[in-house]
Amino acid sequence: MKIYVLRLFHRAERDKRITTHCALVSRAFLTEQMYYCGNKDEKLEKNIEKVNKNFGSNFSVVFIKDWKSLIKNFDGLKIHLTMYGIPLLEKIDYIKSFNKVLIIVGSEKVPKEVYEMVDLNISITNQPHSEIAALAVFLDRIFEGKEFYTNFENAMLKIIPSEKGKIVKKQNY
Ligand SMILES: C[S@@+](CC[C@H](N)C(=O)[O-])C[C@H]1O[C@@H](n2cnc3c(N)ncnc32)[C@H](O)[C@@H]1O
Repeated sequence: MKIYVLRLFHRAERDKRITTHCALVSRAFLTEQMYYCGNKDEKLEKNIEKVNKNFGSNFSVVFIKDWKSLIKNFDGLKIHLTMYGIPLLEKIDYIKSFNKVLIIVGSEKVPKEVYEMVDLNISITNQPHSEIAALAVFLDRIFEGKEFYTNFENAMLKIIPSEKGKIVKKQNY
């Protein structure tokens, strides 16, 4: 399954760490791309490029101006993550039957239109928490832990799991 993420309404100063973490989670948990709208943020894009350069993967962060047309024209299942939605476990088999999925997460208040434009509003518990946690739990459930053992292509650095300390191997690709 190919999963794309849309992070709504990034505010360059206020959200810089949270949006970066949304992108890091999206990359580590095997999505293809994260779109974001709001303020364009070169620093965010460069940070992720640097992580790719060191640790591999073709994941990318793409700024978009028109989030409505992205959602409207997406040719797969469109899911908005929200604490008001239907619990993921009730819809997981249906979601897994698609091969292309767009996951939308908010920052500040998400407009009502988003709730109406998507195919599913899905909750990761019906309690308020965070877009980073919601994304991670959603992706882990969908990929059933596959992300734990994925080796990214083009990695210059490979972490060797270790019980103590840090072991990092340099490699040529
Ligand atoms: C910090 S929350 C702010 C939500 C905002 N107050 C609202 O009412 O839309 C930011 C984002 O985290 C995600 N989120 C937070 N809690 C969630 C939950 N229980 N299930 C799924 N997504 C959640 C949603 O995508 C939400 O837009």
